Amino acid sequence: MTPRTLTHRVRGLPTHDGAGVRLTRLIGQPALEMLDPFLLLDAFGSDRGSDYIAGFPDHPHRGFETVTYMLAGRMRHRDNHGNGGLLEAGGAQWMTAGRGLVHSEMPEQTEGEMRGFQLWVNLPAAHKMMPPRYQDIAPTQIPEVEPAPGTRVRVVAGEAFGAQGPVQGILTAPLFVDIALAQDARLALALPAAHAAFAYVFEGDGLALGDGLLARGELGVLGAGDTVALAAPQGAARLILAAAAPLHEPVARWGPFVMNTPQQIEQALSDYRAGRL
Ligand code: FE2
Repeated sequence: MTPRTLTHRVRGLPTHDGAGVRLTRLIGQPALEMLDPFLLLDAFGSDRGSDYIAGFPDHPHRGFETVTYMLAGRMRHRDNHGNGGLLEAGGAQWMTAGRGLVHSEMPEQTEGEMRGFQLWVNLPAAHKMMPPRYQDIAPTQIPEVEPAPGTRVRVVAGEAFGAQGPVQGILTAPLFVDIALAQDARLALALPAAHAAFAYVFEGDGLALGDGLLARGELGVLGAGDTVALAAPQGAARLILAAAAPLHEPVARWGPFVMNTPQQIEQALSDYRAGRL
């Protein structure tokens, strides 16, 4: 067993996206352009309607997957192929954009708390033009386990502590877990050795990870190894931890399109403008 340690820490960049939603960009910003196969991680969280009410009106995607994990609030999604659904607190959506779609992600509320994450996961070159696919996961579908005293782990994708996440058939074999630790609780989590991995602490006063410490609001990139030791010596802590197989392929990205070459980006743009998504 080789424990993973922190190779670097990143603070999020406050920004806006969609029609003016206030959010914090952790991956996909100058301090961490990407963490192959992760292209972007946004954290959003506010109890003021004005921070999120504008939502994300119609916009395209091609070439990758968007993962939305909701902690609070309700978001309605609709796309140009007739798909739609409601994302609720504690639920998740794993959307494989594949060859493309145009969708909106709009708050289903005008006040109250809205909180969660959106993670972008790249698709292998050979699958970027696959048909779009949704996995809409209701809160009750996500298994919750208590592998050690004072711990609670929700498994959205992949396998952890004998629990299998409901998201299935993703090409980068991801693990996506939401971990809560009470003060002084500790946990060792197995991770595939070849996977890229990060942890983001969003509640509490700090998290011990290997021999390092992550503060709330910090994302830690994990080095090589096949296990990670987590502890909460300074008080309760909560984090998301994600791991997935890197693709080691060229990345050409422009806004909502992530392909392998600039020519494929041009093609995506012209397909979008011609209504072919
Ligand atoms: Fe989107």
